[in-house]
Amino acid sequence: MFDFSNIQGNILRGYASFPHARFLYLAVHDAGDGRSLLKALLDSGSVTPAQWSEKPDAALNLALTFAGLRALGLPEESLATFPAEFREGMKVRAKALGDVGKSSPQWWDEPWKTSRVDILVMIYGRTEGALEERCRTFRQSLPAGVTELGPDQPAGFFSKDNEKARREHFGFVDGLSNPAVEGVSRDGGAGRSQEIGNPDERGRFRKIPLGEFILGYPGEGGDLAPMPLPNLLSHNSTYLVFRKLEQNVPLFRDYIAEQARSFARTIPGGLPNGVTAEDFLAAKMMGRWQDGSSLIEHPDRPTKALDNGFAYADDPAGARCPLGAHVRRTNPRDALGFGGKTMSRHRLIRRGITYGKPLPPDERDDERRGILFIAFNSGFDQFEFVQQLWVNFGDDFEQSNDGDPIAGSSQGGQMVIPGDETTGRRPFICFNIPRFVETKGGDYFFVPSLAALRLLASGRVRAS
Ligand code: HEM
Repeated sequence: MFDFSNIQGNILRGYASFPHARFLYLAVHDAGDGRSLLKALLDSGSVTPAQWSEKPDAALNLALTFAGLRALGLPEESLATFPAEFREGMKVRAKALGDVGKSSPQWWDEPWKTSRVDILVMIYGRTEGALEERCRTFRQSLPAGVTELGPDQPAGFFSKDNEKARREHFGFVDGLSNPAVEGVSRDGGAGRSQEIGNPDERGRFRKIPLGEFILGYPGEGGDLAPMPLPNLLSHNSTYLVFRKLEQNVPLFRDYIAEQARSFARTIPGGLPNGVTAEDFLAAKMMGRWQDGSSLIEHPDRPTKALDNGFAYADDPAGARCPLGAHVRRTNPRDALGFGGKTMSRHRLIRRGITYGKPLPPDERDDERRGILFIAFNSGFDQFEFVQQLWVNFGDDFEQSNDGDPIAGSSQGGQMVIPGDETTGRRPFICFNIPRFVETKGGDYFFVPSLAALRLLASGRVRAS
């Protein structure tokens, strides 16, 4: 069994009850000072583990870039054992990730655009006061050789009409579906979220081996993901993908409103009671209604039911949930056949959080808003596969090179919304879909276990 108290928090169980967050970015100029910061944080019990005896008011977690590990003095023999994507970092991977045009690093926000972030400090609070207090004491503890790169990044969960579930800026309930992991009890996180495993040969779901998300344990194939050396550094550690994804809400709303007029004409008997053409079309693009209910189980109208146990095999042509919809692409469940074997190694634990104020309906403003996309995996090939082949490209879903209508990188792509023989709804094609989401920063991070942080703090790492 594994030791929860050695794995950092917010990975295997989410911080749903910590709705306020602030992300601080650090540069390490002096290895000794960087290590003494780690030591001080560990000695004071400030790094929050996955398990606590008493729930803290605020949580703090740390992640390091490749440059950050080097800045702390990790020897080259050890650095050389980290995966290539991590060594390169997100800026170098930009083209492969679709971070082109306005999403390319030259247009990113600071500090990502011009600085090198060594350490990402993720601070969460149960209240705003607790968050600010934690940020203040953390800042006071910074030694001279470690500086903060501005600006910091405030973030937080928001909901609609005091409902429990949280929303993202396009209006959808988010934080619902995450992987069910062996040995980890149900999260019960944001708005009754329910984890979902991988499909098995009998068309059911089974839990996913821990090794898909945490280093040092067997993964889907029974093997271990490559472990950077020494083992003590990587065991119980993981990798984090951090991306600042800016959402253009007026552009999204305008596009939906314009297309919805033609889409409404494909529904012979008219729209179901209480459902607008905009709601219906937006749901088809996402694969869930805005209130989170699934199109597979509730194809005609939203029901607020947040069940996550649905599958796609009985909807092979996408009559209910289009083949190219965001949630069907990013976790195809049983849609690709072969007992789930072709998708089982591409799962991500998502802990994203929104930033910027929500835009009220029918309003426009200059606010910048979006999601800080936060995903954990035991190798960046997991994220890069999903991003490249499922979000930015559509061949696996018979969508040729058309990308994800919500989060894809293409400008002017299209999406087929298949018709439904049972209701007589005719097929519809959304043409010329703009890019609604632009990348504004981010990097690849290593999230050490608490023991690994202690090892890094000691400065006595040997690769062999
Ligand atoms: C701003 C961009 C994005 C928005 C607004 C967005 C929104 C959503 C929403 C509303 C859901 C459904 C709720 C849930 O299951 O938690 C969802 C699910 C999901 N998204 Fe995204 N997302 C974005 C970007 C991405 C990216 C870039 C990826 C991967 C590279 C991704 C991967 C996923 C996955 C894996 C799921 C769960 C699917 C499932 O298990 O059914 N998302 N997203």
